[in-house]
Amino acid sequence: MDIKNLRPLTGEGRKIYIETYGCQMNVNDSEVVLSIMQDEGFRYTEDIAQADVIFVNTCSIRDNAEQRIWGRLKEFKQYKKRNKSLLIGIIGCMAERLKEELIEKENIVDIVAGPDSYRDLPRLVRQASDGATAVNVLLSREETYAEISPVRLDKNGVSAFISIMRGCNNMCAYCVVPYTRGTERSRNPETIIAEAKTLFEGGYREVTLLGQNVNSYLWNKDGNKTDFPALLAAVAEISPLLRVRFSTSHPKDLSDELLHTMARYPNLCRAIHLPAQSGSTRMLELMNRKYSREWYLDRIASIRRILPDCAISTDIIAGFCTETEQDHKDTLSLMESVGYESAFMFKYSERPNTKAARHFKDDVPDDVKTQRLTQIIQLQNELSLKSNKKDVGREFEVLIEGVSKRSENQFFGRTSQNKVVVFDRKPSLKIGDYVNVKINDCSSATLMGEVI
Ligand code: 5AD
Ligand code: SF4
Repeated sequence: MDIKNLRPLTGEGRKIYIETYGCQMNVNDSEVVLSIMQDEGFRYTEDIAQADVIFVNTCSIRDNAEQRIWGRLKEFKQYKKRNKSLLIGIIGCMAERLKEELIEKENIVDIVAGPDSYRDLPRLVRQASDGATAVNVLLSREETYAEISPVRLDKNGVSAFISIMRGCNNMCAYCVVPYTRGTERSRNPETIIAEAKTLFEGGYREVTLLGQNVNSYLWNKDGNKTDFPALLAAVAEISPLLRVRFSTSHPKDLSDELLHTMARYPNLCRAIHLPAQSGSTRMLELMNRKYSREWYLDRIASIRRILPDCAISTDIIAGFCTETEQDHKDTLSLMESVGYESAFMFKYSERPNTKAARHFKDDVPDDVKTQRLTQIIQLQNELSLKSNKKDVGREFEVLIEGVSKRSENQFFGRTSQNKVVVFDRKPSLKIGDYVNVKINDCSSATLMGEVI
C-alpha cells in the first residue's frame, strides 16, 4: 500500500471535486472515492470552478443536514450553466435514503450512489456522460473497501482516519444510519494494520479507527479471530510514537477488557467518546439503546477506575418523543455526574421510516426542544471549562498538528485526552513533533500553554 497524496496526481483525466458533509466516516469515504476515481484516470481538484465532475458526499442524520445539501445543490446551477457537460453526483447517506427522487426533484443531479456502491462510480460517471440516469443504491453485506488505500485529504499529514467497519445493527429508534449504511460488517484486520503502518512510515503520527460501533468489531475468518481490543493492541504495537484513537463506542458493548488494553498501551489515547443520548432510563428504553442510566454510570465508573486520566465525551439528544421535564433533568444530572470533557448536542429530528417515526409522535414542541438544548449546551460549557481549569498548571505531551488559526506565531496540537492546546512556536519544532507543554491558561474550548 502507498499513501496517494504523497504521489503527484498524474493522468490527463477529467477533474473531480468532492464536497463532504456529516461524520468522520464520510470524510474517510470521500478519500476512498477519490482513490477509486484516480485509479480510473480522474484528477482531483480543490477548485470547484475547474471541475468536470462534482461529488457531494451527503449526510441524512438530521433534517437540517439534508436541508443544507438541498440549498447547496441550488447553488451548483451556476456551474452547470457555465459548463454544459459538468456532471453532479450525490453520494452517501442522502443518496441511499432518497434514491431516484434526487434526480427527479432537482434536475441538476446526474449520478446517485449509496455508501456501498463507490466501486461502481467510474461506470456511473460514464453512463451519465452518455446521457443516461446513473443510479446505484444497492447495499452490501460484505463491502468494506478493505484493500483500497484512501487518497489522504487531510492538510497536515499528521492524523488520518481508518474505517474498520461499516454499517450498524443497533437500530436505535431515532436513527437513520442502519437504513442508509446497511448492516454491520468488519474489515479484514490485516488490511487495517497494513494501512496504519503505511501511514506511520509516511510520517503520520495519529490514526483514528472509525466505525458506527467499534466495540462490536469482529473478524472471524480462516482461523483468524480478532476482536476490537486485539485490533487496538495490534495497531498500538506498530510504534509507541503512533497515537491511536477510535470512535464511536456504544455503551452497551464497552468492555473492561477494552479498558485494560488501553491501560497497557500509553499510545492508545486517553479519550473515549461514549454517547449517552439521554440520562433517563425511560427515554433510553424508548430509544432502544439497550442500557439504563445505571448501566451507563457503571461503565463510567469502570473507565474512572481503570483509566483515571481518561477524558469522556458524549452525544446528547434533546426532546426525543414524550420527553418530560423530569427526563430532561435526568439528562442534565447525568452530564453533571459524569463531568464530560466535551459533547455533541442536538435537537431530536424525526427521520422518515425509523422506528420512532413509525411508532411514536414527535410531540415535544420545537421551542421546548430549543430551550432544553440551550440548557444542555450551557451546562456542557461549564463542565468543559471546569475540566480545562483542572489542567492549568499541569504538563501534557502534545502532538503538533498545525499553525494556530489565530496567530502565525503559534502552533496548535492535542493532548492524549483530545484537548486542543495552543502555544508559541519554536524554530526547532515542526508539525508532527511531540512536545511537552505546561498549561498556563484556558477557555472552555482551548488550553493555552508554553513549551518546556
Ligand atoms: N435526531 C437528532 N440527533 C440524532 N442523532 C442521530 N439521529 C438523530 C436524530 N434523528 C445524533 C445521536 C448520534 C449522533 C451521531 O447524532 O446523538 O450519536
Ligand atoms: Fe455519517 Fe450518519 Fe450522517 Fe451517514 S447519516 S453521514 S453515517 S452521520
